[in-house]
Amino acid sequence: MEAITSIDDIRAEVRSLKEGDRTVAFVPTMGALHEGHLSLIRLAQQHADEVVVSIYVNPEQFGPGEDFEEYPRALEDDVVKCKEEGVAAVFAPSDDIMYSGPQFLSIRIDELNEYMDGGSRPGFFEGILLVVNKLFNIIEPDIAVFGQKDIQQFRILQQMVKEFNHDVELVMGAIKRANDGLALSSRNAYLHDEQRKLAPGLYRALQYVGKQIRDGAKNVELLLDHQKNELEAKGFKIDYLNLFSFEMMDPVSNPKAGSKYILAGAVYLGETRLIDNIIIEK
Ligand code: PAJ
Repeated sequence: MEAITSIDDIRAEVRSLKEGDRTVAFVPTMGALHEGHLSLIRLAQQHADEVVVSIYVNPEQFGPGEDFEEYPRALEDDVVKCKEEGVAAVFAPSDDIMYSGPQFLSIRIDELNEYMDGGSRPGFFEGILLVVNKLFNIIEPDIAVFGQKDIQQFRILQQMVKEFNHDVELVMGAIKRANDGLALSSRNAYLHDEQRKLAPGLYRALQYVGKQIRDGAKNVELLLDHQKNELEAKGFKIDYLNLFSFEMMDPVSNPKAGSKYILAGAVYLGETRLIDNIIIEK
């Protein structure tokens, strides 16, 4: 199997995959595929007859000074992995194809990207919405699978599907972790040995605070401050560690019974940014 690079060719391929009322599930990625991505492919297979994967490092979702240049790229290995997983087609376009000609249009997001990664990375979710919007229009999948790992991405895409009337059902895949709890990420490759050993500390902090909240802890801010101090003492730099509402993704200090929350953190170990979250249903 070879990656398909042109829009016409992938459209023709998807059209033939859909023949006879067969359904297509789509897993968009930026490649350097790991078990987390593969778990989404397997989940996609449970929801549709055929699976299409895209591999595209989208320049529009990287800010100035972020790691666009260094982002790991491994197209050949990725295509082999997709083939082994039984993926029907891989779409791996170039920048010239994805953003051909002058681009005059953009998508604006209100409120849903004020906090969490949206707050820390201006333009990040606008870039994601732009590329996923393009990809949905190219592939026209029945189902699209995204990971809980990037929960704000999932939530904003859900809103995009609703507001822009994309005819696709979104499915969320659980976070795949290494044995020590670290959420798998293409960026983990940047970690030195010492940093890699520290890295699961983020998930442990989330688990600890999550348990306290589920057990009825009242002073969430104090709990979070304590964990932030502990992580900082170990060498993490904290971007955010907070409890957010699931719907609006804004900070919450008094979780109420019957509601859904995201306990999420973003930290730096050296230059490497790690994110993780757990969902809390009170
Ligand atoms: P990327 O970071 O490559 O992630 C592709 C998909 O894999 C996303 O839906 C992400 O949430 C999921 N994922 C990442 N790590 C995971 C893990 N440990 N367990 C389970 N799923 C995991 O997210 C993007 O690419 C881009 O923003 C994209 C949607 C492709 C748009 O450019």
